[in-house]
Amino acid sequence: MEIQPIQTADGSWTLYSEKFQEHYHSTKDGAFNEALYKHVFPALSLMKKRDLLIFDSNFGLGFNSLTTISTILSSSRRAVIHSTEIDRELVQSLKEFPYPPFFEPLKDIIKSLSEKGEYISNNVEVYIHFQDTREFLQSWQGEKFDIIYQDPFSPKVAPQFWSVEYFELIKNVSHPETIITTYSTATPVRLALYENGFRVYSHTSEKVREGTIASMKELASLVEIDMEHKKRVSSKQPIWDRDY
Ligand SMILES: C[S@@+](CC[C@H](N)C(=O)[O-])C[C@H]1O[C@@H](n2cnc3c(N)ncnc32)[C@H](O)[C@@H]1O
Repeated sequence: MEIQPIQTADGSWTLYSEKFQEHYHSTKDGAFNEALYKHVFPALSLMKKRDLLIFDSNFGLGFNSLTTISTILSSSRRAVIHSTEIDRELVQSLKEFPYPPFFEPLKDIIKSLSEKGEYISNNVEVYIHFQDTREFLQSWQGEKFDIIYQDPFSPKVAPQFWSVEYFELIKNVSHPETIITTYSTATPVRLALYENGFRVYSHTSEKVREGTIASMKELASLVEIDMEHKKRVSSKQPIWDRDY
């Protein structure tokens, strides 16, 4: 069965997963705007290091990695990106995907990722690991990540990527200044981050709906959510592995 791309609010295209019964991106925010304004711009502006080690959780169509590469290429920064994806056929099909014009200069990079699952140049390296994200996190022996794009399907259909135990794996591959970005604003997700000692921030932008940023670090430019208060007054609980 051929999968038809679906146009999102900003004109960029995404896909719909029959298996998970969900779009790969928010159709309301737009696939490109979501990558740019919920993940890449906030992460790259909050994390000041020149050489970045990034984990892009669940590659999908690769919008977060590709938007990062575009932004890095017009700066003096370097990025090494590791990403996970279980659907190898999806990645192989990406050289034909109707990406936004912003990615036009990345044609050779997209071809390399699609055919080889990696791309290596002087200032950008991308490695797609075709394995389960939790397995990858458990076996990661490299340095701690500076930025983590937390972008799996939603807690409703993929709770294993939003539980307290999952964020413990994320904590184990993080350092005290790591920036985590996600589209989810759900209280159980924020509580699961908080249970692991992350501070939780609301991130707003005129272009997209609210998202969440988490870090062990104080981020003075963002509005921090009083999670202790939330824990006391909310009827919601963090997601635990035993709950699904
Ligand atoms: C919401 S989409 C990712 C969106 C992505 N950031 C993008 O720009 O397209 C979630 C992706 O997670 C992948 N996935 C599902 N289960 C997985 C698992 N256990 N490990 C790694 N990837 C998984 C799906 O195949 C899908 O491509």
